[in-house]
Amino acid sequence: MSSEIIEVKQLTKKFKAKVAVDNVDFKIRKGEIFGLIGPNGAGKSTLLKMIGGLIYPSSGKIHLFDHAVQENHSYFERMGLLIENTGVYPNYSAYKNLDLIAISYGLKDRQRYINDLLKLVGLDRTHKKKVKNFSMGMKQRLGIAVALIGSPDVLILDEPINGLDPQGISEIRKLILDLNKTGITIIISSHILEELSKVATKYVILHHGKVIENISKEELLLQCENRIELEVDEAKMAIPILEKNLGIQRYKVINERIIHIHDTHVESQQIVKTLAENGVFVHYITKHKQSLEQYFLERTGSGGDTHD
Ligand SMILES: Nc1ncnc2c1ncn2[C@@H]1O[C@H](COP(=O)(O)OP(=O)(O)O)[C@@H](O)[C@H]1O
Ligand SMILES: [Mg+2]
Repeated sequence: MSSEIIEVKQLTKKFKAKVAVDNVDFKIRKGEIFGLIGPNGAGKSTLLKMIGGLIYPSSGKIHLFDHAVQENHSYFERMGLLIENTGVYPNYSAYKNLDLIAISYGLKDRQRYINDLLKLVGLDRTHKKKVKNFSMGMKQRLGIAVALIGSPDVLILDEPINGLDPQGISEIRKLILDLNKTGITIIISSHILEELSKVATKYVILHHGKVIENISKEELLLQCENRIELEVDEAKMAIPILEKNLGIQRYKVINERIIHIHDTHVESQQIVKTLAENGVFVHYITKHKQSLEQYFLERTGSGGDTHD
């Protein structure tokens, strides 16, 4: 099997005239934590429902585990879903809720299975407490436990940290990282890039149903890292001076005139002075600072979409 576990091609979903997901292409590799980011109404839930087999695409293809799913729907069974409604009973405990689902799956040795699952998601001490008395974070963890029944290869979590307090967010993040360590591929959506920045290994930004960016964690962090941007007559003249006289090692030559310096130990004035002393004239120098959120907003517009 190739390392691509999911591939969507030209995936489109229309609701009458509304195009909710518009010709989306991407691949997800085995073991990735794939972050799907987009403002409200961008099409995240619609896209995840198609990948999870809950709704049919209007056009396009979904390949799961190297098979086109039109040919065999059983591949959807290897996906665990937490999308919108978790469908749990508020008057039952976490254990009872999971037990009902485990029965419907025909699982053997249910008691041990459920106790292990409760422990995994950190709900093993809730005992008889009814779900209606759970905190938001506990409910989300129960939702993840529900999605994990049947030991899926891929876990799809639609905005699992929406509305949680910082403590809840950090618990869910830890759980996601722990689950990923066991080998599960995870797809997680959010309308806040920052929330996913500590977990996802890959990011796709969705806007008006279209993929507007597909970027690795390393690339994203580099984009958002503090840097000095510098314009000179000839970058190739400046580089040896920056390296030798100032000990700068982390830089990127953008074109013949522009250099981005990622080393933070040097001040702008020092760079201008040293280059001038060595006959290189600096046309322009600026400190570039961009938070993940600014990066996201710049690409999606500050207002975001609204549900209509
Ligand atoms: N069942 C539906 N019928 C009609 N329009 C829908 C339906 N589901 C979603 N939409 C529309 O599709 C767009 C994308 O919605 P959604 O996938 O829920 O976005 P997100 O999850 O990113 O907030 C929105 O404009 C929404 O109103
Ligand atoms: Mg949604």
